[in-house]
Amino acid sequence: MPARIAAARRVRVEARAKLNLGLAVGPRRPDGFHELATVFQSISLADTLEIEPRRSGFSLEVRHEDVSLRGGGKRATLRFVPAGDENLVLRAARRLAARAGRIGGARFRLVKRIPARAGLGGGSADAAAALVGLSALYGLRLRPEARLALALELGADVPFALRGGTALGLGRGERLRRTGLERPFRALIAVPAWRISTPWAFGRIDRRKYGLTAWKAKRRFAQVLGRQRITAERALRLGNDFEDVLESRRSDYLSLRHRLESAGVCGIRMTGSGSAVFGIVSPGSSAYKVAGRFAGKEPLFLVRSSRAGLRLHMLR
Ligand code: C5P
Repeated sequence: MPARIAAARRVRVEARAKLNLGLAVGPRRPDGFHELATVFQSISLADTLEIEPRRSGFSLEVRHEDVSLRGGGKRATLRFVPAGDENLVLRAARRLAARAGRIGGARFRLVKRIPARAGLGGGSADAAAALVGLSALYGLRLRPEARLALALELGADVPFALRGGTALGLGRGERLRRTGLERPFRALIAVPAWRISTPWAFGRIDRRKYGLTAWKAKRRFAQVLGRQRITAERALRLGNDFEDVLESRRSDYLSLRHRLESAGVCGIRMTGSGSAVFGIVSPGSSAYKVAGRFAGKEPLFLVRSSRAGLRLHMLR
């Protein structure tokens, strides 16, 4: 069977980052993963993935673009981004090709603006963009269950990255209930130079002597949140269990929190297993003034809540 002919000359996908407005971690399951109850929110900070057809094989070029308000630089984004086969774009493409049968190859160009390994879901957004973009380029139509399974194989946040918007995530994070925001919000994100390994952080949570009762109460609260339109302020009340297991990074985190608070940011939380920390910029205040008051070297990103995770453009 010959390879499919591309349906477009090029596609471009905007792949948005996410925040976990709240994140509760439950017990480890028999499959080794943990039960989660989280409120995901897409934000305006986005990578761009351009895809061009090739006869065969996949290649990836990564370029950095600094969109921080101040002090980003290459270190904030390109550091920790694997350029080779380990990159989630190439992993997603190869898995999709293996699942979908014969398609041609593709050349991927990724403009990276989302700091990596910071809990902002950048790699997951890129993987979701590769799945959607490559499918559009070759006119593939995977059944929704097959697409979800493929997404989950790539990472627990990839199913949400495909959906985007505001959603409650249960299970490993893949059982999604879409909800909406009562009103949009702006947030300021600070990204420290240090990183936390996600498997390590889950391991620390296992060693913690938390009660099952606390987890169940949080999950119930999250489920209630998922049934109605929510406000960021209410979702933030779920907390983030990873903030309690920072150990040697605890004082760095507390200092960052304190400096953001002093600058005038409210409702401060860590996203995912860290290390990025965000807070809400209240509607009446100038984000630039708030950023100007912030004392620290951490790159700052000003973002808006977004109703979509991906945006696909077919370029002919
Ligand atoms: O799926 P993702 O790549 O984000 O997960 C990274 C690691 O975090 C997994 O390999 C696993 O060790 C841990 N994890 C977990 N429970 C989850 C999600 C992730 O234990 N629900």
